[in-house]
Amino acid sequence: MPALVVIGSQWGDEGKGKIVDFLADEADVVVRFQGGNNAGHSVKIGEELFALHLVPSGILRPGKMAVIGNGVVIDPGVLLEELDNLVKRGVSIENLRISDRANVIMPYHKLLDGAEERLRAGAKVGTTGRGIGPSYSDKVARLGVRMCDLVDEKALREKLEFLVPLKQRILDAYGDTAKLDMESICREYAVYGERLAKHVADTGPMVMETLTVKKKVLFEGAQGSMLDIDHGTYPFVTSSQTVAGNAASGSGVSPLLLDQVIGVVKAYTTRVGAGPFPSELTDDTGRRIAEKGSEFGTTTGRARRCGWLDLVVARYSSSLSGFTGVAMTKIDVLGGLGELKVCTNYELDGAKITTIPADLRVLERCRPEYATLKGWNEIGPERMEKILAEGFSALPRNMRRYIRFFEKQMGLRVVLLGLGRRRNEILDLRRKKW
Ligand code: IMP
Ligand code: MG
Repeated sequence: MPALVVIGSQWGDEGKGKIVDFLADEADVVVRFQGGNNAGHSVKIGEELFALHLVPSGILRPGKMAVIGNGVVIDPGVLLEELDNLVKRGVSIENLRISDRANVIMPYHKLLDGAEERLRAGAKVGTTGRGIGPSYSDKVARLGVRMCDLVDEKALREKLEFLVPLKQRILDAYGDTAKLDMESICREYAVYGERLAKHVADTGPMVMETLTVKKKVLFEGAQGSMLDIDHGTYPFVTSSQTVAGNAASGSGVSPLLLDQVIGVVKAYTTRVGAGPFPSELTDDTGRRIAEKGSEFGTTTGRARRCGWLDLVVARYSSSLSGFTGVAMTKIDVLGGLGELKVCTNYELDGAKITTIPADLRVLERCRPEYATLKGWNEIGPERMEKILAEGFSALPRNMRRYIRFFEKQMGLRVVLLGLGRRRNEILDLRRKKW
């Protein structure tokens, strides 16, 4: 069955949006299965830049169905704004479906996100402040408001009558001065519900059915494996599971239906927010990569920390999600650097470390060990044209070596290669499509 999952294999911002946009052309349905508007994809179409936070990238391809699955947390105000924006720019949203099981981000989640971060003082996670964590906490605590409640004003009111005073007590206890007004929240959110109602559906069976009639479904991951709530650098992680297993559970389909997993690996590493990052570069090279790669958050505008490609991280991600191939992105950014390093393993107290330790105090003490590879010159517009026309063999020789080295270390092929921002600046190296 043609189900393809796209997973970020570092700390997010690997350029999944572009890869998903590319693959969405071949898909019938594109599904998001986790995260919320903490994610941000930007896709450049012609001269137009589209920044998407909640809506699956597939929306930009006419005729595709775009599904927001049960595993996503939805800020309905943000979603509506995003939809209005798309409509204004001529993108049809008729084919958007939203799971009735998806949890809603309420105003108190955003307040709690801020309050909890402030209380963490020196140990801040550096969240996006969008209420993602508190919303997932409520889901697990069985205190969530779901889309099926949002579209039913009576059910919404009943829940909020209990939840708003409860959240007020927590905010008060946190020393937060915000005052929640049940009535106005209820009214505002009931309107959101009304506006979104026509998109809300039991999406799991819909996706399942698409698969059983052998149509193609693309599962669009958000964030990256190192931000996974279980497998990432906890507590500096997001609050959902970002690994491929959650593509099934977060969209309500059987895991046996997933048959291909493409891991998106940026040709170097970045992370936003706090937490350990063994191959981080704090020097000019790091700053140069940040600048050339426009490493500033799509969602928050924050500068991202940059470093060398880390194979410990990439292999770990691959084993967690069962990558069947890799999409390497932004390799063009490394052009003109002279010499490149790739972290092959860590070293700790004289021992070679090839996995990610759970204990961050241990991870922080891990020293990266590097292989050094030769760099290549920046690719100008003419060379780019030649590459796009002639394919892999037209790449600079040392770039080919960098890719081959990576493939050998990973035991996986690079099936897609991102060479630039534009939609067409991507090499399709797949031997067979899905
Ligand atoms: P939260 O997801 O807002 O709770 O933030 C938790 C951590 O995940 C922070 O370090 C964020 O910067 C990071 N994070 C969340 N979403 C993304 C993303 O889409 N790209 C990169 N980092 C992210
Ligand atoms: Mg992003």
